[in-house]
This record gives sequence, C-alpha cells and structure tokens, in this order.
Amino acid sequence: MARSRKSGRPIDTKGRQPHFLPVHLFSYHDGVLHCEGVNLEELADQTGTPAYVYSAETIRGNFRRLDAALKPLDHLICYAVKANSNLAVLDLLRREGAGFDIVSEGELFRVQRAGGDPAKCTFAGVAKTADEITAALRAGIHSFNVESEPELERINDIAGSLGLKAPIAVRVNPDVDAKTHKYISTGKSLNKFGIGLDRAAEVYARAAELPHLHLRGVQTHIGSQILEPEPFAEAAAKLVPLVESLRDSYGIEFFSIGGGVGIVYDPALASGDPAWWQSADHPRRITPEDYAAAIVPILQPLGLRILFEPGRFMVGNAGVLLSTVQYVKTNPAKTFTIVDAGMNDLIRPALYEGYHEVVPLRQTGREPAVMDVVGPVCESGDFFAQDREVPPLAENDRIALMSAGAYGFVMASNYNSRPLLPEVLVEGEKWTVVRQRQTLEDLVQGESIP
Ligand code: LLP
Repeated sequence: MARSRKSGRPIDTKGRQPHFLPVHLFSYHDGVLHCEGVNLEELADQTGTPAYVYSAETIRGNFRRLDAALKPLDHLICYAVKANSNLAVLDLLRREGAGFDIVSEGELFRVQRAGGDPAKCTFAGVAKTADEITAALRAGIHSFNVESEPELERINDIAGSLGLKAPIAVRVNPDVDAKTHKYISTGKSLNKFGIGLDRAAEVYARAAELPHLHLRGVQTHIGSQILEPEPFAEAAAKLVPLVESLRDSYGIEFFSIGGGVGIVYDPALASGDPAWWQSADHPRRITPEDYAAAIVPILQPLGLRILFEPGRFMVGNAGVLLSTVQYVKTNPAKTFTIVDAGMNDLIRPALYEGYHEVVPLRQTGREPAVMDVVGPVCESGDFFAQDREVPPLAENDRIALMSAGAYGFVMASNYNSRPLLPEVLVEGEKWTVVRQRQTLEDLVQGESIP
C-alpha cells in the first residue's frame, strides 16, 4: 500500500473517491472543546470528572454510513453490544434499525430493557452456560453462533427439553491474519474461537442430525481494530465455497462476517483543525466504503442475507473520557501529568498499549512538550500516554481522552475502590446523564461482614 511521504501513513491509490466525512463531532469553538453543540468545560463543571461523554449524532452517522455502504447486500447490522452497552446507546441504535450481537445473558437483558427485538439478536461466545442458552431460547433470539461441538449438543438438548428448535450458525475460523493486536486477533487457528474450516462441513453434517436444531447460517469473525479491507475479503473468499455448499444442502439463510472494522485513534482530533479532515495526511486507513467495496463483490453472488457485527466502528470515535489534572510531577527523567481518570476507567492503554489522543478541553497555545499522562492507580501500567508530546498542562486543567466510546466504560472496574464513572449522552445542544456516577454506598452494595 502506498504511503504519504510526509506522515508515512497509507493513502488511497485505487482511484476511488476519498471520503472526507469527519469521524466524530468533537471540535473546538472559541478555544473550548465541544461535543456537537455542548461546551465540554461547562458540562464537566456540572458532572465532575472523570466522566464519559458520547455524541448521539456521531453514533447515528456511523450507523447510517455503514448501512448505506452495504446497501447492495440484503443485510442486517447486529451491533456488538460489548463495545458499549449503555441503554441509551442501545436505544439509539435500535431506533436506527440495528439488531444486536450479544455474548451473555446480561447483554440480552440490556437489549430487552432498551426495547430491542430478541429476534434480531445473535448470541456469540465460547462458554454459553445452560442458563444463558435457556434464556436466549425463551426470548426467541435470531441465532446462536456456535463455537464448538459440545456446545452444539448442549443447545440441542436444552432446545429439546423446552420443546423448541434452536436457530444456529457455526462460527468458522478461516485461519487468516487480521493484522491486529494479538489479544484482539481471533481468526487464526491458534485462537480459541470457532471451528476450523477443514472440519466445518463435518460439524454441519452432525448438526443436521440433531433434531432440535435449525441450521440457519454460517458465521465468522477474524478480529478487531482491523485497518485494511484485505483480511475481510480474504476471510469472506475463503468461506464462500463452504457457504455455497451449506446453502445448497441445508438451505441456510445467512452468512455473518462478524465485526472488526477499525477506527482512527492516532490522531483522532488533530487539534480540531477542520482542514485536516480534507488533507491527504488524514489517516483514513479504512472507511465503510472501502470495506464494502472489498466484500460486496464476494458476498453478493451468494444470494443470502449478510449479517455484520460492528462494535468499535459504531461508537469508538463517538466517545471521550473527560479528566482533570491533579498534579504535575517532574523528576530528572520525566514529567508526569497525573490525572483523575485511571486504568480502571479506561484499560485499553494498559492492556493493548492502545493509543488515545490526549487533548486539553481549553486550548492553551503552549508548545507541546514530552510527558507521560498517568492515572492515580497503584500500578505502573496505569498510563494514558508515555513519552508523548502534549500541550503542557497545569493543576485543574481538564483533558479529553479521545476515541474512548468503545471498550471504555464497559471494561471499567472498581479497582482501588474507585466508583464507576457517569456516562453522558449529547444530542445537539442537550445532554443527559445516561448513567449516574457510582456512590461510595454503591461500592459496598451486596457485601456483608459475617
Ligand atoms: N463479533 C464478535 C464475535 C466479537 O468477538 C467482536 C469483538 C465483535 C463482533 C465486535 O468487534 P469490533 O467491531 O468492535 O471490532 N477490548 C478490545 C476489543 C475486543 C473485541 C472483542 N470482540 C479493545 O479495546 O480493543
């Protein structure tokens, strides 16, 4: 792939019209970061920090853009709830017509609580328990994505005991390299996910013998934060012969090619310069249009319904984590800017060396300096930026950690007995706290001293 001489980033050389749509609606007005029409400094004054903020219009725009790119296919977008499972986010996507990809009874509960239709829910995961399978069957989900042969037998037995037929797809592992972080790569045979392509036909033959299963589809998912269209095309092409034969032998109706479309983390805001979106240096490594252009020609001839399970793409760039500088500490080797958000609030840097752009809520005009931005937790892994150029910050300055809408709040914990953060949804000029900050009482809820 060709790269920009200036930035070294990949550029589009295939003669396709580049797509310059902004990937989110966070930008500076009068030197202050806004989300849509909301001044984030004013918001932070009221909610306190740390706090997560999501842009409704960005989420909606992402859904519509992907949906439009996939228009040549008979398709259903099943949003991967794990990326951000706040009820308000689920409700917003439900209104757009999304189905949901769930991985637990808890996610099914959330989808139903948000008014989502179980008949548009696919259920993934390698360790579905009997209780979860029962709940999903009773709710009438669209299908189970089955990850192993013993799971197939278990689903069959439970469906039989309930007098139901369980709709299933088998997750097939195509053994392709998704070229992403090893912890979020799932489509290689060394990963725990799915059933190998070489054994898939045999497993379907066994499934066809089980009386309480309805063979409804085929599924695959190769990983997350994938920044090139090629691995998706490769996985789809590898599975097409199998899908054709399953369609012809068992009348399967759908092929799900999972999620995984990556987003821009670095940089996500570029100091709010609108010209940046138009420049050849914009790191548009994958767009919904690139993705669709790579896979539609492979999938359309199947004549089946195609399911998608995007998570990060829908919500990642649509959220930020607001935080306040507590102290600035310098030693001979480094400057540490210590903020009030920690790895328990956003674990991506610690777990995957994930990059989140750090920007001040109020532009300072100061020249960036090299520093570490770290949290309060008692671990050296508790950092958001290491040796990074950030505008110098002082005590009580506020920052935003960009692109924190996916796998942010949902991966948070109470480590160090820190209450879970509030989540705020912005809609135009309005904002709503869609999850309250936990209280100290919440921290000990359910505990007792015998
Ligand atoms: N479908 C299946 C079966 C999945 O396992 C996943 C994500 C998705 C869909 C959605 O993938 P997405 O479109 O969001 O890439 N916590 C990690 C990401 C873990 C992804 C797990 N599976 C991170 O923060 O990067």
